[in-house]
Parts: sequence; C-alpha cells; structure tokens
Amino acid sequence: MHRAAPLLPLPAGEIHLWFCPHGESSDAALEATYRALLTPQELQQKDRFHFARDRYRYLMTRVLVRSVLSRYAPIRPNDWRFVNGPFGRPRIEGPGLEETRGLDFNLSHTAGLIVLAVARDIELGIDVENTRRSAVLEAVDHYFASAEALSLGALPAALQPHRFFELWTLKESYIKARGMGLQIPLDSFAFALDAPGDIGFTLADPHDDTAHRWHFRQLQPTRDHMVAICSSTDARFVCRETSPLQWERSLEVRTTRASRISPLSPIPPS
Ligand SMILES: CC(C)(COP(=O)(O)OP(=O)(O)OC[C@H]1O[C@@H](n2cnc3c(N)ncnc32)[C@H](O)[C@@H]1OP(=O)(O)O)[C@@H](O)C(=O)NCCC(=O)NCCS
Repeated sequence: MHRAAPLLPLPAGEIHLWFCPHGESSDAALEATYRALLTPQELQQKDRFHFARDRYRYLMTRVLVRSVLSRYAPIRPNDWRFVNGPFGRPRIEGPGLEETRGLDFNLSHTAGLIVLAVARDIELGIDVENTRRSAVLEAVDHYFASAEALSLGALPAALQPHRFFELWTLKESYIKARGMGLQIPLDSFAFALDAPGDIGFTLADPHDDTAHRWHFRQLQPTRDHMVAICSSTDARFVCRETSPLQWERSLEVRTTRASRISPLSPIPPS
C-alpha cells in the first residue's frame, strides 16, 4: 500500500483520469480498511444497496475519490468533506487548503469500471458505459435530438448499438459538466458523429449556453467500456489505472473521437 505516496502535480490545462476496474470483494482485510475511510453517512448509504456487488462498488467509488484526491493535496483520505449541488453533483467542501483551491472531480461507474476525472479550474463531466449492455435504441426517437436520431437510423443495424453508446456517453458527459443532470432536456443539444474521429456539437438554444466553449473526447479504455469527457478547456489527458490503496500504473488509453477544431481557431498553413 502506498500510504505516503508523493503528491502529484496537477498543472492548469491537465485532466487526470483514474480508471478503477472492480468486481466482487474477495479480501476481507482490504474491505475493512476501505470501510474505515467512509463517514457514518456513507456507510449507511452503502448498506442501502440490496446486492453485495453494488455495496462493494459504492465502497470502492468512495475510497477511489478519497484516496486519489489525497494525491493532490496533503489531506488524509478520510478527512475530505463533500457537498452536493442543487442537482446532486458532489464537490469538495473541505478541508480548505491552498492545494484544494479550484480542485474538482467528476466520476462515473458502470459494470466493471469506475472512472474518476480530476482537474483544477476546469469544468468537467465524465460518463462511462459498459457496451455489452443492450443499447436502448427505442429511447433515441423519444429523447435524443432529431438530427441524432436521423443519423443513427441511417446506419446499418449492426452499427447502431455502437453509435447509441457514443451518443449516450457524450450526452451524459455534457449534462454532468453542467452539473444539472436531466434538468437539461436531452433533445436541446446534439452531437454530429458522421465524420470519423470527429465530434460536432450544437445547441438548440444558443442563449442557454455556448457550444464552442466545450471540448469533447471519447475514449475506449477496454473492449467493453466507452468513456466520454466534456470539459471547458481543450485539456491534455493523463491516464492511470489503480486499485485504491494497493497499486497504480500509467495507462495508455485510445482516443476514438475528439471535438473538431473550432471554426474560431486559425487554419494551419497547408
Ligand atoms: C445524476 C446523473 C449524473 C447520473 O448519471 P448516471 O449515468 O446514472 O451515473 P454515473 O455513474 O455516470 O454518475 C454518477 C456520479 O455522478 C455524480 N453526479 C451526481 N449528480 C450529478 C450531477 N447533477 N452532475 C454531475 N455529476 C453528478 C456523482 O458523483 C455520482 O456518483 P455516485 O453515484 O457514486 O454518487 C444524471 O445524468 C442522470 O440522472 N442520468 C440518468 C441516466 C439517463 O437517463 N441518461 C440519459 C443520457 S442520454
């Protein structure tokens, strides 16, 4: 265990992604160490889950957040305090040290993987989905923007589930970056994914937000998982894989799509 792991630098313009594979608990001593890091409220919340695998995923998620944040500030994992925003987005409340100023995170979990994004002074939202789940293609016509539904419907049937997960994760990442969850109607913004590797983004009502201030990236960390990140900065990404309080290693993660260059950017010479 790396109790005294050295602090990591987190320069402006960088987003650190922590990938945490998880399954069922098989180590009672480690689980007891994890439980000791949670607040009484978190322990109560954990015990509300019906299935053991969900209780363990909740426990791992809390420990991941606490142990990873402690890599960026001289604060013990159990000393972090969080507060939920009006639509449920958790943020750091304390302790208030110089090192925690501007520090923010967002996380997402799905079967087999938890992903945590950490940055300073960058608005961000992240979503991970397990693409072995069935794609809910019926939801597209009802909830997605009509341009998204049309473009998905024009694809061969075999490619539609993949496109569904691309759209779903991107849409989740945007509503999470805004911190508003499903308060933002899913048909009020649209992604254009027909050009390979590209992510186009438009808003139905440009008075509500500004499309070009957001940058999107899609990653494929494992064969079964797709990740989307929405951020207010065209950031550099640093990826690590970890099992909290046990080990961590650098990770190369394939980017499958990224926001197309903004029309405001200068055109490079040919
Ligand atoms: C609240 C919401 C963010 C939950 O998303 P989700 O896909 O169910 O869950 P994720 O694993 O991606 O994210 C959960 C984490 O997001 C964070 N979160 C909660 N509310 C949030 C908000 N309003 N904004 C940003 N992050 C939020 C929390 O850290 C939460 O972790 P926890 O479950 O351990 O407390 C919201 O987007 C939602 O209700 N989605 C419902 C799913 C849906 O219909 N999506 C349609 C997309 S096309």
